[in-house]
Amino acid sequence: MMEQFRNEPLTDFRSESSRAAFGRALDSVKSDWGRTYPLLIGGKEIVTGRLLESVNPARHSEVVGLVAQAGRSDALQALDAAASAFAPWSAEPFAARARILYKAAAHLRRRKHEFSAWMVCEAGKTWAEADADTAEAIDFLEFYGREAERIGAPQPLIPLSGEDNELTYIPLGVGVIIPPWNFPLAIMAGMTCSALVCGNTVVLKPASATAVIASKFVSLLLEAGLPEGVVQFVPGAGAEIGDALVEHPLTRFVSFTGSLETGLRIYEKAAKHAPGQRWLKRVVAELGGKDAIIVDKGADLSAAAEGIVASAFGFSGQKCSACSRAIIHKDVYDQVLDDVIRRTSGLRVGDPAEFGNDMGPVIDRSALNKIRDYVEIGSGEGKVVWGGGTDDSTGFYVQPTIIDGVSSKARVAQEEIFGPVLSFIRAEDFGSALEAANDSLYGLTGAVYSRKREHLEQARRAFHVGNLYLNRKCTGALVGVHPFGGFNLSGTDSKAGGSDYLLQFTQAKAVSERM
Ligand code: SER
Repeated sequence: MMEQFRNEPLTDFRSESSRAAFGRALDSVKSDWGRTYPLLIGGKEIVTGRLLESVNPARHSEVVGLVAQAGRSDALQALDAAASAFAPWSAEPFAARARILYKAAAHLRRRKHEFSAWMVCEAGKTWAEADADTAEAIDFLEFYGREAERIGAPQPLIPLSGEDNELTYIPLGVGVIIPPWNFPLAIMAGMTCSALVCGNTVVLKPASATAVIASKFVSLLLEAGLPEGVVQFVPGAGAEIGDALVEHPLTRFVSFTGSLETGLRIYEKAAKHAPGQRWLKRVVAELGGKDAIIVDKGADLSAAAEGIVASAFGFSGQKCSACSRAIIHKDVYDQVLDDVIRRTSGLRVGDPAEFGNDMGPVIDRSALNKIRDYVEIGSGEGKVVWGGGTDDSTGFYVQPTIIDGVSSKARVAQEEIFGPVLSFIRAEDFGSALEAANDSLYGLTGAVYSRKREHLEQARRAFHVGNLYLNRKCTGALVGVHPFGGFNLSGTDSKAGGSDYLLQFTQAKAVSERM
């Protein structure tokens, strides 16, 4: 019997021994750079003719690994392999599958700093952001294991005399898992293992920028006892294999986290019936955000400024939950803006491998270019009062950037930038602040800083986001505590880390026997 779920504690880097241990993990990961990572199909490792360099975004001349790239035929072979492995895997009891997740969590806990160090080097995460990512991955394994045991038992029904009625959840089939690079361990592991623990087999197409971490995790799952063929690992270009995986008649569901544009494409392709397909495909999609923090007159302004800076610039704003709009009551606007600028000026931007840096690089050159274009657009829509600069000479660095006096209709207030760019929007009163916050195609996270009970209650009712935070920052959802997922074009509100999540990868079967 497993003990009750509790969130994995974060590492306390104030302790010298923790810092030393993390430093050693970084050294050991560096000595492992440059290896080749194969595909994994039906339990067989395949090194294809094409290798993609995975680079350190903090120093793009450094290649951390070479990742074999799947072509269309590899992708199709992977679907076949997943389909062949489905019968035995789906017949395993939920509890047996859950045990593999618990074992994987135990392995990961023992190798925590090693995985975090890989995220420093391959994703550009600071020590603290990487450590939180690994802790969240452990949480997903532990949480979904327990959830699987819960839904694996027959579910309660209203009794009917003369009949024996039962409802059980059974797996769906073959799933295509397409995770993002921004939580390269936690979200990738959560999306993969939630599907697996329900008895599905999967084809995992990792994010290209962070495929080494995904490969390491797949190896860890095998060490934890996952049978061969249950997970296929097929890194490859979305343009080359993405559609083939989504459109294939063997694909039963697609679990995707990423951009709105790709999400809409997947949704459309998955809706189309392919010849020979025997089901309606399910799509679980977690897409973008344009998340706002509202600061009310009379709020704790210093807590608000602190929350805004953490939410806007943590991991260089590369979170779907990041605050990209600060909507401030006009009476406290200048004060909050000044404090946010002051705090931002104290952020140390630099190599995330160095302890103490608050912000590292962005993920790659195309991200940097996109962010730079938005800063340019923003400088026409408001006034850049902090940052704005980029430097891609050695790594992909973008300064934390603050734009003052932005209208809620401006492009920088409407479009997801996915970088450290924060727009300040002035509101006449609390009602119009809420209106501005809701004036978005997205609806993922939001926060309100206020001391007025009626305004907090109004926000609870009317702020239309999947994750609303009151008097705290809008990033850092904890598994089991803050089930995560958004409204509108932010996705299917799948609530990762919540008790409804696993049901999306199952179908309910009701059996009635006349006595
Ligand atoms: N779950 C993350 C957060 O809450 C975003 O994906 O910040």
